[in-house]
Amino acid sequence: MKYLRDIDFKNKRVLVRVDYNVPIKNGIIQYDWRIELTLPTIEYILKQSRSKIVLLSHLGRPDGKIMPEFSLKPVAEKLSKLLKKEIKFISNIKSLEGDEMTRNLRDGEVALAENIRFHPEEEKNDEQFAVEICHHFGVFVNDAFSASHRAHATVAQIPRFKPSCAGLLMEKEIKELSKALNPPKRPAMAVIGGVKIETKLPVIENLAKIYDVVLVGGKIAVEAKEKNTSFPQNVVLPEDFTEGNFDIGPKTIEKYKMAISAASFIVWNGPMGKFEEKTYCKGTDAVYDAITSADAYKIAGGGESVEYIDSKKGARRFNFISSGGGAMLKFLSGKKMPGIEALENSI
Ligand code: 3PG
Ligand code: MG
Repeated sequence: MKYLRDIDFKNKRVLVRVDYNVPIKNGIIQYDWRIELTLPTIEYILKQSRSKIVLLSHLGRPDGKIMPEFSLKPVAEKLSKLLKKEIKFISNIKSLEGDEMTRNLRDGEVALAENIRFHPEEEKNDEQFAVEICHHFGVFVNDAFSASHRAHATVAQIPRFKPSCAGLLMEKEIKELSKALNPPKRPAMAVIGGVKIETKLPVIENLAKIYDVVLVGGKIAVEAKEKNTSFPQNVVLPEDFTEGNFDIGPKTIEKYKMAISAASFIVWNGPMGKFEEKTYCKGTDAVYDAITSADAYKIAGGGESVEYIDSKKGARRFNFISSGGGAMLKFLSGKKMPGIEALENSI
């Protein structure tokens, strides 16, 4: 796989896939972390003389239709503030106007294209669509780790037709999550919670092969117990829950706290209960306190865990926080990701 440092961006028109799938309410961005994370890559490319950038992203799930509530316009404004630079907005990258805007970009200019999922071809992983989109560009950069578990045209097809490399965020995600698949320190512990059992089971199964202990909490633990799911011996399920099964119980909290304090490497994904309700956040609070106090290398990720850590202003207490939700889980389950494979096989 190639990285930014392997590519000469001078005098090039650069197509960059980012993940600006951020929460927006009434046109206002609620949380701009994913936008900030892409700034180093954009700034790196712009430092090389006469380069120009078009950014591509999806937002939400408009299902191939133009839906104004999923427009990336608010993101262009936010990005402009963060970069302290005008950001041009391309309403339709697959139109004559989009073509013209792309070709007329001046040196050092940056444009953001409208939500790529407004085109049904994106999620269909359409080859012709990818070719049309990238033909005015000299090079493609994928900095959208959190969208690279999808076999979609802008992540999985474009690298087949353009020299491509990983952006700085993608590079960091791969480096840190590879550590999580091969923990450099022992004992290594994974703490997995949350609600979507179908996405978490493959992770628990894979991490059980690698980690000394895997602690399980959240709704997935309730379901696993109800269904009598069998796990390897090093997978620990809660001994008790609160009334209504909305959180892990006091005995489990004590046991998990003890176990976590002994770990030297910790990966955390998913809350222990319905943490958004005060009555049921004791388990998640206790696990968070134990992890952040442990003398260990700490990696966290997943939409809900990141939201929780942010509410505690605790990001600095982790060595790495993944920007991926589904993508982090796919990576940790040891499966190939279409966007990463495409970069590895790129021309
Ligand atoms: C995410 O937010 O997890 C990514 O942007 C992928 O979005 P998706 O789940 O709609 O494909
Ligand atoms: Mg998702």
